[in-house]
Amino acid sequence: MVWQEPLLDRIGALYGQCALEFGATTSSVGWLDETVQTLRFQKLTMMIAAWAGHRSVHSEQQPWPEITVNDWGCGYGALFAYLDSRPEIRLTRYYGYDISKEMLASAAEHITDDRAEWILAEAPTKEADFSIISGTFNVCLDLGEQRWASYIEQALVKAAKMSRKGFAFNLLSIHADQHEKGLFYGDPVRFYNFCRRSISSRVALLNDYPIDDWTIYALTESDPEPARRNGP
Ligand SMILES: C[S@@+](CC[C@H](N)C(=O)[O-])C[C@H]1O[C@@H](n2cnc3c(N)ncnc32)[C@H](O)[C@@H]1O
Repeated sequence: MVWQEPLLDRIGALYGQCALEFGATTSSVGWLDETVQTLRFQKLTMMIAAWAGHRSVHSEQQPWPEITVNDWGCGYGALFAYLDSRPEIRLTRYYGYDISKEMLASAAEHITDDRAEWILAEAPTKEADFSIISGTFNVCLDLGEQRWASYIEQALVKAAKMSRKGFAFNLLSIHADQHEKGLFYGDPVRFYNFCRRSISSRVALLNDYPIDDWTIYALTESDPEPARRNGP
């Protein structure tokens, strides 16, 4: 991914300016408001429930197992606050990565919790149970669509390697009514097929919510044998 670095520098500078201008708010990361940001987090974290084998993401009857999380493209760390607000999620360690040092400074100021660590990096450097990637690949500036799509696919392979149990990501949808210059709009079928073919046999595509993006999660832990035996 070395060839991408000048572009990532430019994207980091853009988000850095937003962090300075808007602080720890959804405007700094380009989301309309906290409602849509939270809805995205709900969709992305559904894989944790799927892995834990719970029927409802909001089941509080039994605590889920303890987990660690990589937040790739963490912005001001809103995901940490969201995970922490879910009583059934037992977060023991959270690594927030960003290419913008201004964003990370905003995150460190916003979230002061010993479980959180802020890392200036263009990809996760530590293994975690789950990796979550929200909005990270939205801005592609002037790079062509096909090159950016290939970059994302390489990134997903990396995410899988750094995630012991699973990872989830979202992308703006190619089906959105309006496309803004400099943003990338992904085809959900392309990325579903890529994940299914190259990463895991347990992949879910979520496209059932009223925002112009979609979410995919892939479980990366080895397939449970009994489920395979019960198949057709
Ligand atoms: C749209 S914002 C989303 C922030 C956060 N995930 C959220 O949902 O609130 C995208 C963030 O990803 C960061 N970013 C973009 N490309 C990245 C990369 N390759 N590695 C790490 N961070 C990246 C940007 O600097 C920015 O803070």
